Amino acid sequence: MVRETILSPADLIWPLFITEGDGVEEPIASLPGVSRWSVDGIVERAAEAIALGIPCIALFPNTPPALRSDDGAEAANPDNLMCRAIRAVKTAHGDAIGVLTDVALDPYTSHGQDGIVDSAGYVLNDETVAALVDQAINQANAGADIIAPSDMMDGRIGSIRRALEMNGHVNVQIMSYAAKYASAFYGPFRDAVGSSGLLKGDKKSYQMDPANSDEALREVAMDIAEGADSVMVKPGLPYLDIVRRVKDNFDIPVFAYQVSGEYAMIEAAAAAGAGDRDALVLETLTAFKRAGCSGVLTYHAAHAARLLNG
Ligand code: PBG
Repeated sequence: MVRETILSPADLIWPLFITEGDGVEEPIASLPGVSRWSVDGIVERAAEAIALGIPCIALFPNTPPALRSDDGAEAANPDNLMCRAIRAVKTAHGDAIGVLTDVALDPYTSHGQDGIVDSAGYVLNDETVAALVDQAINQANAGADIIAPSDMMDGRIGSIRRALEMNGHVNVQIMSYAAKYASAFYGPFRDAVGSSGLLKGDKKSYQMDPANSDEALREVAMDIAEGADSVMVKPGLPYLDIVRRVKDNFDIPVFAYQVSGEYAMIEAAAAAGAGDRDALVLETLTAFKRAGCSGVLTYHAAHAARLLNG
């Protein structure tokens, strides 16, 4: 009766990794219990999400190496892995499940950076924004419900919003990765999308310094002004203070991404006998809600929903 925070499957967004083929499941070594699925498997996971009461999945492609290039042009191919998965899920399930798609070039570039780089390897903001607009429209054309730019370029939310309107996608939402930190917690994700071996250097010229908090509020304010429907803080647990500040300062839904390294940390702790897996999962996810999140992206989504559904 006096519990202040209720966690439910409706609070969860389930990130899924797509791979080529048919009937393929590829376990990801650094994310024990998480696999890449071919498009048919993604459609099955979407059915599982619906049955569990999870309202949304987030899709990330592992692009075949031959299709990666300096400029990440595959991101704008209407028949790329991402678009085929979106269409298959929407054909099978329609509005019963939301599809959130990541906008950033890293799964498509031969250098693993989120944008187009100059000869010194430095990401070029404006050239990248133009490519991200094409990528976002490509995903919206395929049926994506929520476009989630994770690239952290300046001005991309406004550009994507204008392009969505001009292309008739007035109901497509934008969830901006507004406060995304240059974090050490993204390692297993880069394995999952196949960019870790390619990535040279780091992403510190466009992702945020973990030491900064006021800067997160400025980023959120800009993205809201440019037309974001919701904002995200990422990683999750080490940044709950940022979630709370955003929640207290802005009247917009805030989400958090419990990222791959956080998932791996919980699994490693449980495997080492340092904590009870189910309890760790539910406690951490409840903490996100307590901090003010409207929802959480988590690789534990299906497991947590099963626990919550009893
Ligand atoms: C791509 C992107 C990343 C994540 C989500 N989108 C990796 C990165 O920025 O290098 C990380 C998610 C995770 O670690 O689970 N821009």
